Amino acid sequence: MQQLLSEAQISEGIARLAAEIESFYDGHRKLTIIGVMTGSVVLLADLIRRLPRTIRVGLVQARSYRGASTTPGALTIRADMLPDVRNRDVLVVDDIFDTGQTLFELFLELDELGPASVRSLVLLRKQGRSKVPIEPDHVGFDIPDRFVVGYGLDFEDAYRNLPYVAALDDAELAAGPPP
Ligand code: IMP
Ligand code: MG
Repeated sequence: MQQLLSEAQISEGIARLAAEIESFYDGHRKLTIIGVMTGSVVLLADLIRRLPRTIRVGLVQARSYRGASTTPGALTIRADMLPDVRNRDVLVVDDIFDTGQTLFELFLELDELGPASVRSLVLLRKQGRSKVPIEPDHVGFDIPDRFVVGYGLDFEDAYRNLPYVAALDDAELAAGPPP
């Protein structure tokens, strides 16, 4: 396992993202932040505590079964979990932008609900992987095309609780998650 981002680097990145959000949305707009479960929960908790404004927080579940494979399976979105977003400014928060399929499909679902605006924020963006015509609006860090874990990201449900981001090598991926 090779550490890619330390706790201190992540913390600086979150501070930078929070400052971007504060300067983009003026203080009078009713911002609704929607975290994509489960990978975004650590990021969500750290990010919202750096926003001094009044916000609403919601969660949505988007699941593409893939394990160690980097090819996403069919995506299921639990849109019934979404809060009322009509006429609201929505910021979708996810752990990583890989192929972009999750954010792309989520944007299509959200558009049906009549929000005032929808933008996105991700901690990580993998280089050279996008298969969709959108890019995230706020990006913490661009990373190489490796399978990463920690700070919310999992390998078959393991490693979400690591406080840093690390890349697994091929042998570690082939060996499977820890028991
Ligand atoms: P996308 O739909 O291909 O952009 O993938 C986004 C989702 O796939 C993320 O929310 C993650 O749950 C998962 N994912 C993509 N790459 C990785 C990775 O390197 N490690 C762990 N999960 C990943
Ligand atoms: Mg995810």
